[in-house]
Amino acid sequence: MAQLWGGRFTKETDQLVYNFNASISFDKKFYREDMEGSIAHVKMLGEQGILTKQETDELVTAVKEILNEVEAGDLEISHEYEDIHSFVEAVLIERLGDTGKKLHTGRSRNDQVALDMRLYVRREIMATDELLEEILNTILTIMENHTDTFMPGFTHLQKAQPVTLAHHMGAYFEMFKRDRLRMQDIYRRMNYCPLGSGALAGTTYNLDRHYTASLLGFDGPTLNSMDGVSDRDYLIEYLSALATIMMHLSRFSEEVIIWNSNEYQFVELDDAYSTGSSIMPQKKNPDIAELVRGKTGRVYGALMSLLTTMKGIPLAYNKDMQEDKELVFDAIDTVKGCLALFTGMLSTMKFQKDKMETSAKNGFTNATDAADYLVNHGVPFRDAHGIVGQIVLYCIEKHISIDDMPFEELKKISPVFEEDIFEAVSMETCVKKRLTIGAPGQEAMKKVIALEKEYLSQDWKKGLPDWEKELLK
Ligand code: ARG
Repeated sequence: MAQLWGGRFTKETDQLVYNFNASISFDKKFYREDMEGSIAHVKMLGEQGILTKQETDELVTAVKEILNEVEAGDLEISHEYEDIHSFVEAVLIERLGDTGKKLHTGRSRNDQVALDMRLYVRREIMATDELLEEILNTILTIMENHTDTFMPGFTHLQKAQPVTLAHHMGAYFEMFKRDRLRMQDIYRRMNYCPLGSGALAGTTYNLDRHYTASLLGFDGPTLNSMDGVSDRDYLIEYLSALATIMMHLSRFSEEVIIWNSNEYQFVELDDAYSTGSSIMPQKKNPDIAELVRGKTGRVYGALMSLLTTMKGIPLAYNKDMQEDKELVFDAIDTVKGCLALFTGMLSTMKFQKDKMETSAKNGFTNATDAADYLVNHGVPFRDAHGIVGQIVLYCIEKHISIDDMPFEELKKISPVFEEDIFEAVSMETCVKKRLTIGAPGQEAMKKVIALEKEYLSQDWKKGLPDWEKELLK
């Protein structure tokens, strides 16, 4: 047991209480952010004349050394300390004596932990964004290669109208693109520095909060110290965005599982991304997709947990908030893992073009186009719908598709049909004619692909300050 406080206590903390209270086992994850925050704080204290030049230099050098040693594995973060903040301070005091004791001047663990978590999450937002960019690139490549790969589009999991694989993939492109836009949004809203909020009411020292904020790459300081130490909105927003990514990955996984089933065979998973059965030699299972679908639950759970934890907390800091960390860390690691694996699976997956096309042909996906043909020849749509319904019934009985109907039989059902009906309901025509922007027709699809490419060429992170290099220089 090693803690930063105890002056007003007459008894040792009970060991069980100590263990229950301690957070080092998980907050050591942001040791880097904690020390970066300390460096910025000390530099500011130096600029403001609260620390001497010599104290400032000694402290900055020592914190950098501790950071390097931890990073290199030369200094182990010991669990005998209550949290990462106490650990760093204790090592500093051990090395610098009284100067080490000055690190925490004008700071509370409340604004310190608020800062550490923000720095950590801000970095993870970038990492999530990069993984999303990778999956988007993978999807775009598939889109470019498959503007002519026909497949059935489904509603109610029933074959509906023909689309192309490029078009189907394009739907996921849009979803992950929105996920990326959410990262950008959250980043902008959260990019304010809580350091200097103190325990809750600021401090009496003449701190320069704008300076610390700029040293750490923030757009400025937070504007209310009570909110500064107790705001966890950005975590809830981030968890919500992560939950949405998982929802998208889970839908995609479900499709991969269906497509990979013996009945569909639209895709074949690469051996490296599938698993076998211990008893059934013939099996090649889509475990990765199933696990991604399954892990969605824990990310949703993290979001619900944090919303619930936060709902009854009066201002300002309360210890309940310590619960944010394990939830958020687990959700981040889960989503990052799932995104990386799913992208790998997708980029190695083989699409069985023939199977997809045959399936589209055999499912009356051109029935709407047959009705449209009649409409274009003057039949009211509701009548056309009924006529094509009769044709479908005939085909089901004969086990054939509309394309294979004898022309005389078509004529019998409606004299409006001419020989060009077969051309009109061919897969190629059905897709080619769908030309409004957002539709699967090749020409429309090519325009969309160009737009998506243009979108991917812009990097929203380009103009951001390279604060870390400057700070650790
Ligand atoms: N481990 C704490 C947390 O994660 C750090 C802040 C502690 N502050 C306090 N007043 N006990 O929230």
